[in-house]
Amino acid sequence: MASSTSVRGTALLCLINAAQAIPFASKAQTTFSVATSEPPVVPHTDVTSHGPYTGTPTTTGALSTSVLASAIPHLPPPDDAYDYPADGKLHGDQPAPFTPSGGLGTNGSEPVYRVQSDFDYQSLALALYQEWIELDLFHWGLATFSDEEFEAYGIDAEDRFLIQHMANQEIGHATVITNMLGAQAPKQCTYNYPVSNVAEFIDFNQKLTRWGEAGVYGFLPHLNSGPAAQLLLQSITIEARQQLIFRQFGGNFPMPEWHTPGLPQSWAWTLLAPYISSCPADQTRLVWQNFPALHVLNQPNPARINGSDVWNETTGGYANTLSTADIPEDELCVNATGVGSNCEAAISNNRSIPLSYPGRQVFLEWDDPGKVVGPNNSYVTSASCGQPLFAAWVSQLNVTYTPLQNISLGDVNSAYTVQPNMSTWEGDPAVNGTMFLALTDLDLYVTPYNLSMLNPHVAALAVYQAG
Ligand SMILES: *[C@@H]1O[C@H](CO)[C@@H](O)[C@H](O)[C@H]1NC(C)=O
Ligand SMILES: *[C@@H]1O[C@H](CO)[C@@H](O)[C@H](O)[C@H]1NC(C)=O
Ligand SMILES: *[C@@H]1O[C@H](CO)[C@@H](O)[C@H](O)[C@H]1NC(C)=O
Ligand SMILES: *[C@@H]1O[C@H](CO)[C@@H](O)[C@H](O)[C@H]1NC(C)=O
Ligand SMILES: *[C@@H]1O[C@H](CO)[C@@H](O)[C@H](O)[C@H]1NC(C)=O
Ligand SMILES: *[C@@H]1O[C@H](CO)[C@@H](O)[C@H](O)[C@H]1NC(C)=O
Ligand SMILES: *[C@@H]1O[C@H](CO)[C@@H](O)[C@H](O)[C@H]1NC(C)=O
Ligand SMILES: *[C@@H]1O[C@H](CO)[C@@H](O)[C@H](O)[C@H]1NC(C)=O
Ligand SMILES: *[C@@H]1O[C@H](CO)[C@@H](O)[C@H](O)[C@H]1NC(C)=O
Ligand SMILES: *[C@@H]1O[C@H](CO)[C@@H](O)[C@H](O)[C@H]1NC(C)=O
Ligand SMILES: *[C@@H]1O[C@H](CO)[C@@H](O)[C@H](O)[C@H]1NC(C)=O
Repeated sequence: MASSTSVRGTALLCLINAAQAIPFASKAQTTFSVATSEPPVVPHTDVTSHGPYTGTPTTTGALSTSVLASAIPHLPPPDDAYDYPADGKLHGDQPAPFTPSGGLGTNGSEPVYRVQSDFDYQSLALALYQEWIELDLFHWGLATFSDEEFEAYGIDAEDRFLIQHMANQEIGHATVITNMLGAQAPKQCTYNYPVSNVAEFIDFNQKLTRWGEAGVYGFLPHLNSGPAAQLLLQSITIEARQQLIFRQFGGNFPMPEWHTPGLPQSWAWTLLAPYISSCPADQTRLVWQNFPALHVLNQPNPARINGSDVWNETTGGYANTLSTADIPEDELCVNATGVGSNCEAAISNNRSIPLSYPGRQVFLEWDDPGKVVGPNNSYVTSASCGQPLFAAWVSQLNVTYTPLQNISLGDVNSAYTVQPNMSTWEGDPAVNGTMFLALTDLDLYVTPYNLSMLNPHVAALAVYQAG
């Protein structure tokens, strides 16, 4: 622990090496009046170049070793899964006063804040790619659009400082993940954003932070390293707040859903990769799959007074982020008058005309696999399923399937489906908020902890703006 002054009362976590230590629960000031040095952050640059990658990649395809089977087999639950009585009584001796028996990582063994498996490494590396893009994206928007352009959407100087602050939070998130990964941790890349004005910037941010958030929720409870999960959890809760704030800046109801969905890593990577242009030469690659893009032709547009009255108003597949290009000024909600119609940046806005609703026909087009995508165009989209037959609505705690209708395959693959009418709980319509839509060849029953079992059946993927 070279740089970690062994001051009594100072607890420092020793990670890969001393230079990467994270000070934790530092109480040095209460013991000695010595100034503790500020722990260094990971190297980063303020503005990287932007725009699509035009070169030829030096390598292609996801990272892989020997692949043992085409899918993970379905097994029954563990034998002891129902053994614990769950009757409110204590069933074991207490290891210490006021301490129940059980739990993981509770026996006093010293926590080690590092990845412990390929699963851990690849998951945290994915999360790091996400933190890096957010750091750049938030700065880029502030540098690209004028104060007047922000103010036209009700985003004033104090709001812009909050965006600046959210970018800075990403430096901390990138640092903590880099420290847990070690020397080969992915570095900052260059990016391209499907955005040409403030409304599109804010909408892209609220969608991107949603898949960043949901992407981590999907793997967090599966990590081998509980200590790594702990630190990542304490970063992703900030990301969740950023998502909500960008919804507020976009004039949306801040959090219509009662639960946030979790996503498999390959879904998060699928949604993220298209916006990464190129990465440094020695960049660590990922194992995850890139699915083909799903285009929601009538993706609800939160910039409109009637967000569901819309045709082909996105800036492309995957994020399906809003475009304002075709909206006449009198159909924009930002300057509309009246409660329920106006959507200027606010703590909360009622959307009296719902963005989407049960029974809505949703028109879809999707790409064939085999397209190059992601950093240096060095990953290739793939799908191992047959012809898609269902739309999987991944929202809150539920995955619900609706049949695809009028399926047409060819130069353009298209179909439509109808938004389902179901509730997670009484009073909580399941399909709401910024959520996810996948096309699948099977209506496989999956739940939040085994959603990745759906991967072999996924044909294409999108963000859906349900509310
Ligand atoms: C304590 O728990 C850790 C896992 O958190 C385990 O690896 C270790 O063997 C346990 N130690 C003892 C003494 O049981
Ligand atoms: C909304 O109205 C204000 C005041 O008239 C104006 O300055 C602003 O540009 C308008 N915003 C948009 C997006 O048109
Ligand atoms: C989405 O949630 C909001 C907030 O609870 C609610 O007002 C709205 O009606 C919901 N949308 C739908 C389509 O159920
Ligand atoms: C990606 O592009 C960068 C910049 O041109 C280059 O340094 C790097 O080697 C490329 N990586 C791959 C995998 O092609
Ligand atoms: C909003 O647009 C939808 C789709 O075109 C339409 O069915 C609905 O009646 C509109 N709502 C209002 C209040 O105009
Ligand atoms: C949607 O818009 C894009 C670009 O504006 C255009 O190329 C495409 O053909 C349109 N698609 C449909 C189904 O209208
Ligand atoms: C906002 O929407 C809720 C739910 O539809 C409704 O109960 C409430 O009256 C609305 N508030 C205003 C100020 O319109
Ligand atoms: C959705 O289901 C609820 C409860 O069954 C019902 O009251 C409502 O009318 C349904 N809405 C639509 C659009 O089918
Ligand atoms: C679906 O296909 C049928 C038969 O070709 C056609 O009549 C109907 O209009 C189509 N529906 C939509 C929504 O495109
Ligand atoms: C949605 O998820 C909840 C919680 O797991 C479950 O109780 C409910 O039955 C699910 N609803 C549907 C329609 O699948
Ligand atoms: C996922 O888990 C649920 C139980 O929560 C189980 O019923 C279902 O069969 C599992 N799905 C797969 C594909 O393993």
